[in-house]
Formats: sequence, structure tokens, C-alpha cells
Amino acid sequence: MGEKFAAALARAATGNEITKQQIIDLLSALPGEEENKLFQLADQVRQKYLGNEVHLRGIIEFSNFCRNDCFYCGLRRSNKQIQRYRIPIEEIIETAKYAAELGYGTIVLQSGEDLHYSGQELAEIIRQVKKVGGFAITACVGERTWEDYTLMKEAGADRYLLKHETADPILFSQLRPETTLKERIKGIQWLKELGYQVGSGNIVGLPGQTIETLVEDILLLRDLDVEMAGIGPFIPHHQTPLGNNSPGDLSLTLKTLAVTRLVLPQTHLPATTAVGTLHPEGRKLALASGANVIMPNLSPVSYREKYQIYPDKAGSREKPTESHAKITSLIKEVGRSVSTGRGDSPKDKFKTC
Ligand code: 5AD
Ligand code: SF4
Repeated sequence: MGEKFAAALARAATGNEITKQQIIDLLSALPGEEENKLFQLADQVRQKYLGNEVHLRGIIEFSNFCRNDCFYCGLRRSNKQIQRYRIPIEEIIETAKYAAELGYGTIVLQSGEDLHYSGQELAEIIRQVKKVGGFAITACVGERTWEDYTLMKEAGADRYLLKHETADPILFSQLRPETTLKERIKGIQWLKELGYQVGSGNIVGLPGQTIETLVEDILLLRDLDVEMAGIGPFIPHHQTPLGNNSPGDLSLTLKTLAVTRLVLPQTHLPATTAVGTLHPEGRKLALASGANVIMPNLSPVSYREKYQIYPDKAGSREKPTESHAKITSLIKEVGRSVSTGRGDSPKDKFKTC
């Protein structure tokens, strides 16, 4: 083991705050012993603060319309090759009922930034889904106004997912035309003020990104003190301007996840669908590197193939029952258990009992 890496790891193991330089040293872990030690420590920290349970969040992708034109995403408005859909409320409710039967503690209502829905209409969907069962609701519908966030909260949304995507403001605006990192962060801060449990996160391996950017991503997640952070690799989509770029690196994704676990011991970290798409063992490896959440797709089959943020998204050809069965057996295979509760943030202010 290199000296600098060993010193940074030893400091992280004390549980004290680590410096920016130490984050760089940890992210620079070499394959073999260094990476293994990093993943092991992240796994121990996850075990100590969050236990062995893996929380399931069932996702319903209710609309694939999007007003934005992000260079990396297949749902971008310029992509005329996908068929757009909005799932009727009755079908959303049916899916939520199915999730309740399977014992899901959280439903994620996800869509592109679809302004077809007013704040009131989004609130109504949330209200109706919330009535179905005793689960927590996570809204993931992009940037909206303070008033819309308020309406959704009042309707029963417990959590909100708004990934910062990349902490480099220039790269952010290059890859997400007409939008800024500043506005995005303002949204995240509003959500916190409104009392949401907030999820954010970033993509690993975007063209133009460096190790420095990833360090800034982790520091931003620490500053924002998020309750959840989704960290997944970039996967090129042929119907986007980045279609010919290389995908994100698996081990760099796992290292970013592991270092985030060390920096934010109580934050929920999913083994993302993207890491499961990048590599067949991706989700298992993520669970062994600090992750404690999986977000199975519960969308009805007829819509799944149309929600191609990136191609061949893991599970995009499965029935919801198959996705669920596959994920629960994966969790058991790695010696972990499926949580039966809502999986709220363990931070004191969100404790429900
Ligand atoms: N590769 C990986 N993740 C992507 N996302 C969008 N496009 C891609 C891609 N090509 C992620 C973004 C966004 C979420 C909907 O999916 O982080 O927040
Ligand atoms: Fe829309 Fe989100 Fe895709 Fe950007 S990443 S095009 S905001 S769905």
C-alpha cells in the first residue's frame, strides 16, 4: 500500500472528517490491495451505521416527457426516436397497490421534467398513491418552483430526489443546456428547508470530468448533508450527442461510492441500476462497497422500454415480478436482508419512532 493512501485510509477509519487531499488519495486507490482495503472499510462503516438491511425503493416511471435536453440522457427533448407516454392515474395506482402487496416501504414517483403536470396535479398523484399503503413517497420529477415543492410536500411526499449530476458548474451547463448548477443547488436547499429527506448524487465518467470533479461531487454532497446519494456510471446512449463516448469506469464508480460512504456514514447509498447495467455483478459489488439501497423498477412492462435514459437499462425487459424476485435473491446471495420498514433516514430529525 502506498503511504499517502494508507494514511488517508487510517484517518477515515477513525471516523473523523477527512481533508480534500485525503479524498483524492482515497479515490486514487490502485487496483488490488488498495481498492480492496477501501471497499472493506466502506463496507464496515455501512455495517456499523446502517446494519445489514437493504432498503427497497420501488420506482414507477410515470412519464418520459422532458423539457430538458441533457446531452447524456435518452429522454432529452431532441430525441424524436422515442415514443413518449404518460401513465394514466388508474394504472399508477394499480402499480402502487402491487408494490404494497410486495411490502415495499417506499414508492418513487419518477418522470422527466414534464410541465404537462401542474404542481397541483403532481400533488394529486402523490395524494392518491399515498392513500394506497403505508409507504413513504419519494418525488423525482426534476426542478420545480417553491410552490410546487410545497404542494407536493403537503400532499404527503416525504422525500425528493434531485441529483446534482456534476459539481463542475461549467460542465453542468455544457451538458445540461439552459440550466445551471446554481439553480439546481438552490432547489436542493429549498427541499431541505421544506423538510424533505433529500436525495442527490452524481454521474461518474462524464466526458470532461476529472478526479478533481469527483472530489467536488463528494464535498458538495457533504456540504448539502443529503439523506441519500445516487452515484452511478455514465452509460452512452446512441440517440444522444454523447453516444460515441466511453462509459464510466466500474472501479472508479465503486471508489466514489466507497469514499462517499466514509464521508457520509449515515447517508443512504443505492447500488444503482446504472452500475447493474454497466456490469452484471455491478449491484453486488456496490453492495460490498458501501451501498445499502436498491431501487427496483416497478413500471408496467409496456412502458419500460420507453424509459431508456440509457440503453439496455437493467431490467428493462422484465416484468415487475421478475425485477423484484431477482433483486431480493441478489440481496440474499450477498448475505444481506431485505428491510421491511420505510427506510427513513437514520438521522435524528427523521426518526419516525
Ligand atoms: N448514464 C448514466 N446515468 C444517466 N442519467 C441520465 N442519463 C444517464 C446516462 N446516460 C441519470 C441522471 C439523471 C437520472 C434520471 O438518470 O443522473 O438524474
Ligand atoms: Fe430530462 Fe433528467 Fe434526462 Fe435531463 S437527465 S433529459 S432532465 S430526464
